[in-house]
Amino acid sequence: PDGIDLVQDGTLTVCGEAPYEPFEMEDKNAPSGYTGFDVELTEQVAKKMGLKYVYKDTAFDSLQSGLALNSGECDLGASAMTITEDRKKNLLFTDGYYDSKQSLLVAEGSDIKTKDDLKGKTVGIQTGSTGEIYAKENLDGAELKSFPGDAELWQAIQAGQVDAVLQDLPVNIPHTKDGKFAIVEEYDTGEQYGFAAKKGNDKLIEEFNKELKAMREDGSYDKLYDKYFST
Ligand code: ARG
Repeated sequence: PDGIDLVQDGTLTVCGEAPYEPFEMEDKNAPSGYTGFDVELTEQVAKKMGLKYVYKDTAFDSLQSGLALNSGECDLGASAMTITEDRKKNLLFTDGYYDSKQSLLVAEGSDIKTKDDLKGKTVGIQTGSTGEIYAKENLDGAELKSFPGDAELWQAIQAGQVDAVLQDLPVNIPHTKDGKFAIVEEYDTGEQYGFAAKKGNDKLIEEFNKELKAMREDGSYDKLYDKYFST
């Protein structure tokens, strides 16, 4: 009821880059064609705001740079996007909804045990991500290779094209489940994910924050959190 005037045709168009398990994954059986923590959370908020919901797969780099949102292609970025001072210059963010870290993924049995073992090794990172920034500042002597998304990173490490992958911890975790890859180190970067909108859309952010807060209070946030993050 209180969201109708904030978006076109009463539809909240949400953009994110999938797959980024467990935040955004394609799912033919889901109402929007996608599922995941970000998708379900924004879907529930949209419903409370009286809005229809569309989820569009969008290159992460164009989301984090502000391009996809400021051009009007989407109303909201929901892409496990870390709130940073730099991004705040081009975008508005909701309150944080998830605390995250960076992590180093290697093949089981690799001789890489910490980031000090990365000299002369290749490390895959995602273009435009906070992981890329962390790697540039902290992985001395490693050869960094950029890939557009986690799907390409996962392919590259499985094919042995990179020796390690530096990626958000909650997204590396699913890659360890078959026992062939392991997380050898975590980096406490103090990151918080937020949903993003274009500058000037303060009212949308305000309404969104209100509903997010209500979901934290009535237990529906915890329910969704447990669904995706309890093992
Ligand atoms: N949290 C990291 C960042 O903000 C990576 C996010 C990538 N998200 C995605 N859906 N591909 O830079």
